[in-house]
This record gives sequence, structure tokens and C-alpha cells, in this order.
Amino acid sequence: MSAPLRIGIVGGGFMAQAHTMGLRDLRAVYGEDAPSVELVRIADLDADLARAAASRHGWAEATDDWTEVTRANDIDAVSVVTPNAAHAAPAIDALSHGKHVLCEKPLAADLSSAEQMAAAARASSSVSQVNFVYRQWPATATARRLIEEGAIGRVLHYRGYHFHDYALDREMPATWRFSRREAGAGSLGDLGSHAVDAARYLVGSEVKTVAAQSRTVIGTRPLGPGGPPSVDVDVDDSTDLLLEFEDGTPATVQVSWVATGRKTDWGFEVVGDEGSLRFGWQHANELRFYSHADPADRRGERVVIIGPDHPNAESFYGIAGPGLGYADAFTIALHNFVRAAGSGEAASPDFDDGLRVAQVLAAAQLAADERRWVELG
Ligand SMILES: NC(=O)c1ccc[n+]([C@@H]2O[C@H](COP(=O)([O-])OP(=O)(O)OC[C@H]3O[C@@H](n4cnc5c(N)ncnc54)[C@H](O)[C@@H]3O)[C@@H](O)[C@H]2O)c1
Repeated sequence: MSAPLRIGIVGGGFMAQAHTMGLRDLRAVYGEDAPSVELVRIADLDADLARAAASRHGWAEATDDWTEVTRANDIDAVSVVTPNAAHAAPAIDALSHGKHVLCEKPLAADLSSAEQMAAAARASSSVSQVNFVYRQWPATATARRLIEEGAIGRVLHYRGYHFHDYALDREMPATWRFSRREAGAGSLGDLGSHAVDAARYLVGSEVKTVAAQSRTVIGTRPLGPGGPPSVDVDVDDSTDLLLEFEDGTPATVQVSWVATGRKTDWGFEVVGDEGSLRFGWQHANELRFYSHADPADRRGERVVIIGPDHPNAESFYGIAGPGLGYADAFTIALHNFVRAAGSGEAASPDFDDGLRVAQVLAAAQLAADERRWVELG
């Protein structure tokens, strides 16, 4: 048996929980084939939070200095799960110290940092992966397989969306997510990065041209205890994108974190000239497939229930239908990462995918600011 992959993680919040759950489930899901991992060290700027996260999630050590993760001789691979503007420094440092890096999405808060990260990944022999978990979700991967097999014919148009209502509360404090400097964008970066990546993945082409409109609905928010009573919000609460892909496919992507009543509701519709596909996270284990090849008297959407015959779901259960959930999305992503890190094979989606999405998001911001179509370079 090969030596365990020694992991460190930078950031101790929500995503530290999700990544650790993914890592801890590897053996349970993938059995003896799962690369073994050792949870060596967790870093967070807040030392108390780092200690609490280590104790809760089972990391052997905690530190408030992320270089003790990115430069450590006893660590092989690093998860970067900090706010968006704090991805580039630890990710590039870890790569330059020979570590494999899994970085949260969006790759960075600004295009220049994303370019530097992608360049650092290309220059290193380490594995880089960006955590677009939704494209790796079994129903999404199945949709892609059906598209590649020609089951829906030529793609005529694509619709993607990602809605939530967690920012609807005016009293919600102005965390890093509401700052353009720290997050890069609002709902566009947070939710739109996933939705744009899924669109690229399913259409199978790159975005050529973007138009967008953004709106900030709640312009000020309380800063929280001890700070000024309110701060201005300089990111979007909702953004609508109109995309044209290089292969000519038109697409719309709509995102909002003030979408009253919607909870982690991301999904897509891919319409082809011989069939169509439809998915929504509220029915995360179902993929709707319509085939125009069916006899006319029984044409209609069929509901494909995800199970072991579908990509990335093979190892979970022997039967279809028990259902995978949010934590499983991270188990799938972490498995892809540690398997690539252990074997030296390229990971997917990688930092170049993160850069492509960053280019689309930057173009969308420019398009929204200047109210015009923007061509990607
Ligand atoms: N893949 C997904 O589905 C998904 C879901 C949620 C969040 N995310 C992404 O994960 C990242 C983290 O989000 P979160 O929800 O965990 O945020 P969070 O606010 O819950 O946690 C971030 C943590 O990072 C710490 N931190 C900040 N700067 C740091 C630094 N320089 N070094 C070390 N620690 C630092 C903070 O103290 C905080 O504990 C973001 O990029 C976000 O977009 C991805």
C-alpha cells in the first residue's frame, strides 16, 4: 500500500467542513481503491477558529499561519478554502513549494490573480484543481455523456441558473461576500462561477461573447458588532448573462442570492434538435431526458434516477435511488483530486478552467457596467 497523501487546508469556515467531510468519506465510498489520506494541519487567520475547526473535523494540528501549511515538509497537498481574494497567495505559494492544490471557486477575486494562479499551475508539475463541484455531480456528468453520445443531437440552446435567497435578509452582516475587493463579485462570483462552468462543460465549447445586467438590491448592510453601523455594498445581488459560445450556441445564465423562496436551486436545460435534458438541484438525483426519437404517441420527458450506472455515482451504492447529497459532491471532488495527486495525472476541472470562468465573469462585469456586449480575448 502506498504512503498516505498528507493534506493541509487553509481556511477554517464552511468549506473546511465540506472538504473534510469529503476526505473522511473516501474510504467508506471508494473502499480499498481510495487513496489513503492523513489530515495533517488546518490554518485560519483566527487561531481560536483554527483550533476549534481542527478539533471538530479531526485535523491533527492547527495554526494561524498558512505558510505552515503551504511550505510544510510534512504536507503533500493543500485545499485552499479562504475568501476569494485570499486564494492566490496560498495557492501560488503551495504550488511553488511542490504541493498539489485544490482551490475553491471562483479561482480568484480578480482576473489578474486568476491569470497568475493558472500560470503558476502550468509552470509546476503538481496537480491543480478548482472546486466546481456541480459539473462533477452525477446528473451533470450523465447529461454531458448523453450530449457527447449524440442523444439530444445538435445543441440549439442552453439555460443555466443558480438561485438562493440567503442574502435577502437586510440585517445580514456585510461579510467578505459583499465586498468587491474581497469577493470580486457578488452573486455573479459566488453562484455564477458554478453556473458558467457548468455551461462550458455541458455545451462543450468556450464562451465567445457576453452581455449582462446586474443589480444591487440591498445597498447597505450592517458590519457587525464593533464596526460602523452600515457599509455600502459594491457587488451584485443578481446578474443575468447572455452568452454566445465559440461554436455558436446561445445561452442564458441567471443568478441571484435574493431569489425569494429559492434554496441552493441551481440547474440547467440543454435543448438539442433531437432531444433535451433538464436538471434542478431540488431533485438532485433525477435527470430529465426527452428523446424525439421515441414513437410519437409516447414522447415525453423520462426521469432518469441516478445510480451506479452513472458517472461519478458508481461507487456509492449498488442500487439506484437512495440518493446522493451535498456532502457527496465534495467526496466526489476530493476523490478526483487525491486520485490525481496520488497518480500524477491531470485533474479536472483545473486552474485553466478556473481562469476561463474568471474571464467570463470579468467580461460580464464590464458588459454590465458599460451596458454592451463584450468579446472575450
Ligand atoms: N464549491 C462550493 O460549492 C462552495 C460553496 C461555498 C463556498 N465556496 C467557496 O469557498 C471559499 C470559502 O468560503 P466559506 O463559505 O468557507 O467562507 P467562510 O467565511 O465560512 O470561511 C473562510 C475562512 O477563511 C478564513 N480566512 C480568511 N482569510 C484567510 C487567510 N488569508 N488565511 C487563512 N484563513 C483565512 C476566515 O477566518 C474564515 O474562517 C470561497 O472562495 C467560496 O466562494 C465554495
